Amino acid sequence: KIAQVYAMEILDSRGNPTVRVFVGLDDGTLAQASVPSGASTGEHEALELRDGDKARFGGKGVARAVANVMDVIAPALLGRDPSRQAEIDQDMRALDGTPDKSKLGANAMLGVSMAVARAAAQVAGLPLFAYLGGPGACRLPVPMMNVINGGKHADNSIDFQEFMLVPHGAPSFREALRYGAETYHALKGVLSHRGLSTAVGDEGGFAPDLDSNEAACELIVEAIQAAGLKPGEQVAIALDPAASSFAGNGGYDLSKSGGGHKTSAQMTDLYAQWIRSYPIVSLEDGLAEDDWAGFTAHTAALGDKVQIVGDDIFVTNTAFIRRGIAERCANAVLIKLNQIGTVTETIEAIDLCREAGWRYVVSHRSGETEDSFIADFAVAMGGGQIKTGAPCRGERVAKYNRLLEIEHELGRAAVYASAYRLNT
Ligand code: PGA
Ligand code: ZN
Repeated sequence: KIAQVYAMEILDSRGNPTVRVFVGLDDGTLAQASVPSGASTGEHEALELRDGDKARFGGKGVARAVANVMDVIAPALLGRDPSRQAEIDQDMRALDGTPDKSKLGANAMLGVSMAVARAAAQVAGLPLFAYLGGPGACRLPVPMMNVINGGKHADNSIDFQEFMLVPHGAPSFREALRYGAETYHALKGVLSHRGLSTAVGDEGGFAPDLDSNEAACELIVEAIQAAGLKPGEQVAIALDPAASSFAGNGGYDLSKSGGGHKTSAQMTDLYAQWIRSYPIVSLEDGLAEDDWAGFTAHTAALGDKVQIVGDDIFVTNTAFIRRGIAERCANAVLIKLNQIGTVTETIEAIDLCREAGWRYVVSHRSGETEDSFIADFAVAMGGGQIKTGAPCRGERVAKYNRLLEIEHELGRAAVYASAYRLNT
């Protein structure tokens, strides 16, 4: 039974406040969880409650969210059985009473929701991935490792937010991580050899000033080869342009790189060219969140060649995913717990993807903490893909290291999703 729920204001990887929640049970069990925070957030995400008090953290404090956990949520959960996740999440939603969780804050609610799941796993004597995923949870995800950062995640001349390594041709997760780390270091060498900056952006990827967005793809292919690996076969590329962040004037303004203005159809043509030239297997948010018709055309043109992932357009919300399925806007969904605000609703979003035969990628946020919840969650959900940054910076590596632990713990039962050909 839940005996106490309390919260603290902690810092995320960008030095901004976020929420950490503790759930204590009457048998002495104590579980905690910390909530991440995005920078290129979707317009329809559940609301992250910030104080707006300029005297503290430039208005970014989360003291109100913390108080909502202690004063509103905690009293309602005392004496409850933490294994009743769906009921607890539903009751928090009823307490909040708004469609976007703006009264209590999705950051307050998600912290409680995740900590409750962890407490219940401890009571069950199971690691979190086995508690949430059942005895069949043995599939380690292919990581999408963001090694070149641009867009809102770096102060450089790249419009596109993320250029990722996909080491899908490895025999195990452990080896996949090695492929990724070795390519990352090779990329550092390629950049410094050209006199480019090797300072990193928010997700641990390098953030050089390049002459064009496309140059990032060239550099990555060169790095994969320099690491002694085969581009495409062993290590492929995934992109997240995060196009909502450069949408403007009825189209897309590639103003950071000086790439000019493009229509939705011209963006799709650009991606089609890149897909012919580089080993790209996944394309996320190639268009903006409100460009639904563009996404339908985009998926018709590219969806048989690469995985088309919707992030800002779906915001892990079943209402938007349902529309996307009906309109064939994508064939995969990016899954972020804090976009929707409870563990139960996140699982509902994944169930909907499964029903539609769509893929799903469990994801971190650009502002993260050392909490590795999503590593367990990705294995539990079994979708075979996780996106959690470069193999660099503690808050990113915490997730990869947890996946190494899970693979070790599963031993011979562990399956790396390498058979999962992303582009077939
Ligand atoms: P965000 O970026 O966490 O800043 O929203 C991640 C993404 O767009 O996938
Ligand atoms: Zn994204």
